[in-house]
Amino acid sequence: MNFVSYQDGTLCAERVPLVEIAERFGTPSYVYSRAALELAYREFDQACSGRDVLICYSVKANSNLAVLNLLARLGSGFDIVSGGELARVLAAGGSAAKTVFSGVGKSEAEIRRALEAGVLCFNVESEGELARLAAVAQSMGKIAPVSLRINPDVDPKTHPYVATGLRESKFGIAYDAALPLYRKAAKLPELRVIGIDVHIGSQITDVEPFVAALEKVLEFVDALDATGVHLEHLDLGGGLGIRYRDEAPPAVKDYLARLFQRLGKRELRILFEPGRSLVGNTGLLLTRVEYLKHGGAKNFVVTDAAMNDLLRPALYDAWHEVLPVTRRNGPAQRYDIVGPVCESADFLARGRALTVAAGDLLAIMSAGAYGMTMSSNYNSRPRPAEVIVDGKTAHLVRDRENTEDLFASERLLP
Ligand code: LLP
Repeated sequence: MNFVSYQDGTLCAERVPLVEIAERFGTPSYVYSRAALELAYREFDQACSGRDVLICYSVKANSNLAVLNLLARLGSGFDIVSGGELARVLAAGGSAAKTVFSGVGKSEAEIRRALEAGVLCFNVESEGELARLAAVAQSMGKIAPVSLRINPDVDPKTHPYVATGLRESKFGIAYDAALPLYRKAAKLPELRVIGIDVHIGSQITDVEPFVAALEKVLEFVDALDATGVHLEHLDLGGGLGIRYRDEAPPAVKDYLARLFQRLGKRELRILFEPGRSLVGNTGLLLTRVEYLKHGGAKNFVVTDAAMNDLLRPALYDAWHEVLPVTRRNGPAQRYDIVGPVCESADFLARGRALTVAAGDLLAIMSAGAYGMTMSSNYNSRPRPAEVIVDGKTAHLVRDRENTEDLFASERLLP
């Protein structure tokens, strides 16, 4: 759902003019749409109807408590990768029993905390982790529910930094090593083997790599069945791409239909871990133009948002649409949109045609996923506020950091 539109020449999020949000809450601010978020979840959910499916929203994409809470209210489960994310899910009213714990480096303390909370499943990524999980569970007198994350060696054809299912990746357990490990796990009384997990990457815009990974998983399930290990669920991970510019990812319902078709009549419960496809296009970053700078070879728009607020352009050369909040007449010029951070990689967009003046507001679109969650305080910049619009109302769901927050936990030497 496109939650922004120009009304009387000024850009609004749902029915709230972004100018008003900037006045009330300042800039830079992340702005999310409740309607767009809820619609994205419902579309995913409805496309799963008739199947035993649990949607485990991947918290890393956008972990604001209000976002997690809205999703929990709709029945969503969660995919977490740290004790911090577990604490967020619980604080937001999410259910541990609908939460899967992913990630290659779970610490003992994190495992303990997740066992106490009663998570649905640990997605185990190595032999070492399996041993640690068994030891911690034993020390607590608990039985840990386990999936192994297998590495299907499938090329998701995405940016190399977000491909995770290739043989050379740090993620998952090599296909051939997984079968003996399953047998080992099945023998340990502290573990209950309940599933299998795969996640091949992110921003994947073609359904075929997902199907290829599913095929490998199904082969594996059959091999396990033959050895007497019977699983309850398949976790097919996340990774479905969205449209930032001109990508043409499959619609959620087509992606799901294709996977369900391949699954046929199998009685297994299916878990998905979507992140970006639920939240990516439900948010924007609102920023104000500080200066226009006409350099020797290029023109620059210097904004008050920077790479520390939205890292994706600097890190992945990602393209985000830039919309002027108030349209101006007059000839456009080509600009790089850059922030105040002292790095040449500090850009939000490059080579964009804009008619713009100092003081104008810009909306950096498709910033609902991996925006705020990847922000930092680099250059001692307080992080942005977060706002959710709901119809005509804007709610501040995270205060802008203030400068004292930046060093409140630091100490001087005596
Ligand atoms: N499950 C696992 C185990 C994951 O590692 C991820 C994302 C997801 C689910 C959710 O994937 P999604 O549906 O959002 O594609 N920072 C990068 C994306 C990193 C993705 C990391 N893992 C970006 O800004 O493009």
